[in-house]
Amino acid sequence: MEDRVLLSAVESTFTGVVIADARAPDCPVIYCNPAFVELTGYPQEEVLGRNCRFLQGPATDREAVARVRQAIADGRSTRALLLNYRKDGRPFWNELHLSPVCDGDGNPTHFVGIQLDVTERVEGFRLLERALREWTATLDALPEMVFLTDGAGRLRRCNLAASEFFGLGFRELIDRRLAELFGQEEGLFRGAGGEFRLGRSCYSVANHPLPRAQGGQVHVVRDITAQKALSSQLEWLLAAVEQAADAVVVTDLEGRIESLNRSFRAKTGWSSEEALGMELFALQGVPPEVAAQVRREVEEGRVYSGLYQARRRGGEVYWEEATVSPVREAGGRVVKLVHIQRDVSERRRLEAIAEAVNMAENLGQVFSGLRHELGNPINSAMTALSVLRENAARWPTAQVLSFVERALVELERVAYLLRTLKTFNLEALELERLELGRFLRRLLLLVREDLERKGIQLTLRPPEEEVVAWADPRALHQVLLNLLSNAAEALEGHPLPEISLEFCRRGRRVEVTVGDNGRGMGPEELARLFKPFYTTKRQGSGLGLVISQRLMAGMRGTLSVQSERGRGTRVTLTLEEASGAASPPAGGEPGPAVPAPPGEAPAGPEGF
Ligand SMILES: Cc1cc2nc3c(=O)[nH]c(=O)nc-3n(C[C@H](O)[C@H](O)[C@H](O)COP(=O)(O)O)c2cc1C
Repeated sequence: MEDRVLLSAVESTFTGVVIADARAPDCPVIYCNPAFVELTGYPQEEVLGRNCRFLQGPATDREAVARVRQAIADGRSTRALLLNYRKDGRPFWNELHLSPVCDGDGNPTHFVGIQLDVTERVEGFRLLERALREWTATLDALPEMVFLTDGAGRLRRCNLAASEFFGLGFRELIDRRLAELFGQEEGLFRGAGGEFRLGRSCYSVANHPLPRAQGGQVHVVRDITAQKALSSQLEWLLAAVEQAADAVVVTDLEGRIESLNRSFRAKTGWSSEEALGMELFALQGVPPEVAAQVRREVEEGRVYSGLYQARRRGGEVYWEEATVSPVREAGGRVVKLVHIQRDVSERRRLEAIAEAVNMAENLGQVFSGLRHELGNPINSAMTALSVLRENAARWPTAQVLSFVERALVELERVAYLLRTLKTFNLEALELERLELGRFLRRLLLLVREDLERKGIQLTLRPPEEEVVAWADPRALHQVLLNLLSNAAEALEGHPLPEISLEFCRRGRRVEVTVGDNGRGMGPEELARLFKPFYTTKRQGSGLGLVISQRLMAGMRGTLSVQSERGRGTRVTLTLEEASGAASPPAGGEPGPAVPAPPGEAPAGPEGF
């Protein structure tokens, strides 16, 4: 072939071609083609006479250069991938092919170098390599086991968690089947997946098919032991709250109900549908001052704890003991309130009964009162009579009579106290079904005239339904006479005195209320009300309410007093309701006291 043809081929090829003189010092370039000039940006005159290392730069791989140097020294062909720099400084990847041209003795006279710009390929490869590295790192960082299986269900890839789980390297896992590796059914690794147990641990399997073109599936196997334990704990916790004996209600900060439990529904009568979203205290008819106090406490991050009256769905009032605790989110901000409520009406009723019984049974207190009450007038009478015995002979009649009178007044006081105590004996009460409407109308017939004489207006407010209670009629008669007498006393001097008598059924109990608009009592007076021998009346033993309370307790009932100075007093009696039950309430204590039968009772209200 002609040299001209060869030269033209070399000149027009798109790869760079250089020829260096192997015999000249430092192997200078003696020829470079236009493609080399175009590739490197160096004009021919700047290339000829120089060693090709001028293309290298700071990031060129020194080891690759050393291999080239060695090949040149050995006079053999080589191929190297070198990072070179254009004249303008831009780097490019140079795939260099070097071949010696030898003389007749086999010694290299020249080297031919061919440069191929493979930047795109190398960069693409690098990118791929990086993506692979990042994805591998991503999958290896996951705590879940991730597997790739082919269309035949054989393992192609898995992450570090998977290889650590089995304690096997990737090569040992490849081509195995997941069902066989985990010792589970094949079906678990097809379709939607599922859960399985290994020892005490529990795992979930999720299968994700790859696009049809690729075939195969990705499987994610997750250890859900802790999650299972937590959710079962949560389930138990929810069940415990739902079934708790106390009512548990969660509200937002405005008090709107977000969740509630069975006890709340049972206690209040409201269903979840009715109550959710409602304002709790409004729903329960809790007094605004209580609601305000709760708000104050929780706003300051404290737990409210207190006792208040609330209302059931049907309107019945009951006593509630409650705590309201703020619930904080992770950052410490209060976001919810949890109300724990307990209906303590029954407990309070029993406590009231026990208290009344205890008080009356405190004989020491009663006897010391008696000693005092009876001893004083007897001593005075004795003193008067002794003085009289000494002086009767020489005193004028008028003076003698005045001393006799003094002694009689004192003895009259003793007689009065003894009459009162007659009602405090220890015979048993006999409970019977008492239709309150009829009973009270008859009672009012006895007292109306006396009260009207005092200008007191008396009203009886009967309910529409028939109300039947377990009661001893003589005892209840006595109690009511005492209450009416107290009310009349409290109304003395009132321009428009009124007494009202109300009664109604409240669930399984019956309430009878005697109310007056009289002078009422302050807290101190109220506190002393049930102390024997304490009285504010001019004519009174201080035993009336004590005996009344005792009689009510004997009927398994209670007596409670609400009063406000200047506004009046309301005394509420409760008794067991008797319309349905066949026998008197169980556990009725042996009746402690029987009053005089109605026939013997004074015709008008008379205080004790
Ligand atoms: C014909 C020929 C072409 C060469 N072409 C290049 C080249 O394009 N890029 C490069 O980095 N080195 C090239 N080299 C290699 C360097 O010229 C030099 O031999 C290498 O850097 C090793 O020697 P050193 O360690 O003395 O620098 C070529 C060498 C010869 C003989």
